[in-house]
Amino acid sequence: MSRPRLSPWRDGVLGSVAQTASAVGPGDEARDGNPGEIGLADVTALDDRSAADEQEPSTLEPPTLDPPTTEGTPEPEVIPRQTIAVVAAKGGVGKTTIATNLAVGLAKLAPLSVVLVDADVQFGDVAMALSLTPGRFLPDAVTAVAANDAMVLKAYLTPHPDGYYVVCGAESPADGDRVTGEQLGHLIRQLAGIFRFVIIDTAPGLGEHALAALEAATDAVFLCDMSVPGARGLRKELAVLATIGIMPPARHVVLNFADRVSGLSVKDVEATIGVPVDVAVPRSSLVTLSTNRGIPLLQNGKKNPASAALTDLVRRFDPSASLKRGRLHRRVVVA
Ligand SMILES: Nc1ncnc2c1ncn2[C@@H]1O[C@H](COP(=O)(O)OP(=O)(O)OP(=O)(O)O)[C@@H](O)[C@H]1O
Ligand SMILES: [Mg+2]
Repeated sequence: MSRPRLSPWRDGVLGSVAQTASAVGPGDEARDGNPGEIGLADVTALDDRSAADEQEPSTLEPPTLDPPTTEGTPEPEVIPRQTIAVVAAKGGVGKTTIATNLAVGLAKLAPLSVVLVDADVQFGDVAMALSLTPGRFLPDAVTAVAANDAMVLKAYLTPHPDGYYVVCGAESPADGDRVTGEQLGHLIRQLAGIFRFVIIDTAPGLGEHALAALEAATDAVFLCDMSVPGARGLRKELAVLATIGIMPPARHVVLNFADRVSGLSVKDVEATIGVPVDVAVPRSSLVTLSTNRGIPLLQNGKKNPASAALTDLVRRFDPSASLKRGRLHRRVVVA
């Protein structure tokens, strides 16, 4: 059950992921046609929430993959699809907190077109963080029948009442350990053909599943806390990813547990990791409380410094937000 090592994965699984990607069949039309972009009208609501709650999962309607006929009508506005991997070198720095709040925030932007994947295959706790009681789990979503049929896959997702979907983590570490990086990569690509936003919560470090997530991602959210080991860990993580050539096109660095009593400043952390910090989320007992209650901070809509920082992070994925690309890496301060 130990996590596979980095280099064997690179040698053994990367090639397989490429093969899988080229071997996908029906249900992947959207990806094959134009992998990075979809039309506005293409982001179709699945089912209204109350209906979804009442139905058996297998009867949930998948979103429409084919663009509507546009003859005689103006071209629909093109909105990019984004696959966001939330990663960190160290454990306990807030990956699940960030991933779940991203799902809540992005679901407000794109209702029913967000899916959150718990790719911490052994000890994933996304379902707990969201107070979900799933009937299906990650190992179900990577079975051959789901891997080859988007309708079946849809039935294995757990809907959240707030308008997004979740692939909940395995019921046991042993079950989760049977999910390979290759299977996870295929699942992420399948979901990216269906949803506008795919968010992936990962286990600490660069195991095969985190690498599979990063390889499929358009965006990486890199997390570290305000500690020397945390910052050094992120620096090494970035260096390894650059060396092996797995770096998603867009990068977002989040400094979590930010405070003024750690003995480090944001500048110190930036000097260590070698890249700017994009968002600093303050240490806050409200975050801890929200985890313990199973209600992400952004779900209750109340204003506080931590939810403001999380909202800043969500806005980085909102094309209608006024942030210009050039201003994305702006100086952050710890209140
Ligand atoms: N900014 C914050 N302020 C206070 N507590 C926080 C903050 N961010 C996260 N926490 C708390 O820290 C704990 C760990 O957070 P979380 O589970 O998100 O980390 P993780 O990186 O996913 O951990 P793991 O590596 O075990 O998966 C949780 O109890 C969470 O509520
Ligand atoms: Mg976690």
